[in-house]
Amino acid sequence: MKVAVLGAAGGIGQALSLLLKTQLPAGSELALYDVAPVVPGVAVDLSHIPTAVKVTGHGKDDLAEALTGCDVVLIPAGVPRKPGMDRSDLFNINAGIVKALVEGIADNCPTACTCIITNPVNTTVAIAAETLKAKGVYDKNKLFGVTTLDVIRAETFVAELKGQDPANIHVPVIGGHSGTTILPLLSQVEGVDFSDDEVASLTTRIQNAGTEVVEAKAGGGSATLSMGQAAARFCLSLVAAMQGNNVVEYTYVQTDDSDDAAFFSHPVRLGANGVEEILSYGELSAFEQKAKEDMLEGLRGDIKLGVDFVNG
Ligand code: 2OP
Repeated sequence: MKVAVLGAAGGIGQALSLLLKTQLPAGSELALYDVAPVVPGVAVDLSHIPTAVKVTGHGKDDLAEALTGCDVVLIPAGVPRKPGMDRSDLFNINAGIVKALVEGIADNCPTACTCIITNPVNTTVAIAAETLKAKGVYDKNKLFGVTTLDVIRAETFVAELKGQDPANIHVPVIGGHSGTTILPLLSQVEGVDFSDDEVASLTTRIQNAGTEVVEAKAGGGSATLSMGQAAARFCLSLVAAMQGNNVVEYTYVQTDDSDDAAFFSHPVRLGANGVEEILSYGELSAFEQKAKEDMLEGLRGDIKLGVDFVNG
């Protein structure tokens, strides 16, 4: 497996690359790309960790070299939020970065699985899809918005509240990756009961968890370490699935479901070619159904912004 991280010298990129260097299957190659001149140094630094994963560093003019032969490409490149900003405030800068990097994927590894971390994910995934379509290489089964951070946060907060081991808690999270578009399905958490007040307050906390980090970092950026962990989990699941294991993760994919939105996080069975099967997210409680109906228009608008960015 060859995996590339585009934006590897940033806060998410470095945490993610460290986890992949220590956890990718033996024999894998990890290509680190960044426009920041420190990227060869990050690669040398990681290369001193004794695992059978080969690390290479690629500077701003070497995108093609980083991408050639890739099976999986992860994109955390871009700028993070500062206090007071919403993820959509990042659109002007990050949209162009994602488009340029995805053009590189289309030109150099068009059959790779592309995993988008750069915010606003609700929109940047649509930008990636339209960019790949314009290049004639779009495969909806190979494009993912990484929403795993919402899942791991939900599992952490539920375990804390109920005094349980987070390893035993599984929380489905559907929708998008911003504010109210993040919809945890607390009614489906096995072995745990919640009062109506707990459902309301936990849902809000999960939806605002990214902002909790942005405010705590006080101008120093957004989540990097937990995002790195979440993206590594998603990448390792995808790699395991591509190697023949049966894996299900929640991820933001093209659904063709006109009742929801063109892209929507579902439980997805991953396989050798990316999406194997988009699974149903099951029955919603009345609270979840209303929350879904209330956020759909916003999510569809976020997606349209991405489509219009590429198509003018
Ligand atoms: C978050 O949810 C960075 O979007 C990421 O914190």
